[in-house]
Amino acid sequence: MHPNIERILIDETTLKKRIAEMAAEISKDYEGEEVLVIGLLKGAAYFMMELTQHMTVPTQIDFLKVSSYGSGTSTTGKVDIHFDTSRNVANKNVLIVDDVCDSGLTLKAVRDLFAQRNCKSIRLAAMLDKKERRLVKMVPDYYGFVIPDEFVVGFGLDYDEDYRTLPYIGILKRSVYDK
Ligand code: IMP
Ligand code: MG
Repeated sequence: MHPNIERILIDETTLKKRIAEMAAEISKDYEGEEVLVIGLLKGAAYFMMELTQHMTVPTQIDFLKVSSYGSGTSTTGKVDIHFDTSRNVANKNVLIVDDVCDSGLTLKAVRDLFAQRNCKSIRLAAMLDKKERRLVKMVPDYYGFVIPDEFVVGFGLDYDEDYRTLPYIGILKRSVYDK
């Protein structure tokens, strides 16, 4: 385990098993349809790769880069779009995926953005859900794990760009950011 990790919240096996279950559920819901999965960079990258490899309906992928955080551990309340999807999303079933739904501001902003683009449908999936931290009404259509109000890293999630490559979800030691 990485020395800056307090404890592992979700180990690699549990994480991958649950993501495969999500892929099965999502594939069932989109039966007979095609899906365009749009991952929010960079955090959603690992989740998205794991998820889409297990999907059984025809699936395309694209990326969007937004930010709501800067380098701290709590939201700034403002969401900026840094770069957009490469393809037209009109008449597509869009599934937006993110690493964690925290305040809900990011997913809400992205959903509002895509609502103006004539998609056939828009759904949201979050690997992790910090339900108790919501600042806006937001219920993802799919979520992997409800987690407590802890700052976590790994499997795509970072603190100031570090720890994304850890293969598990770990709680970061407070001493790392409480300085
Ligand atoms: P929201 O807009 O507050 O829902 O935040 C979503 C974004 O905040 C995520 O995509 C993450 O980039 C970041 N975030 C929220 N909680 C955590 C955490 O515990 N660890 C790392 N990043 C987080
Ligand atoms: Mg993110």
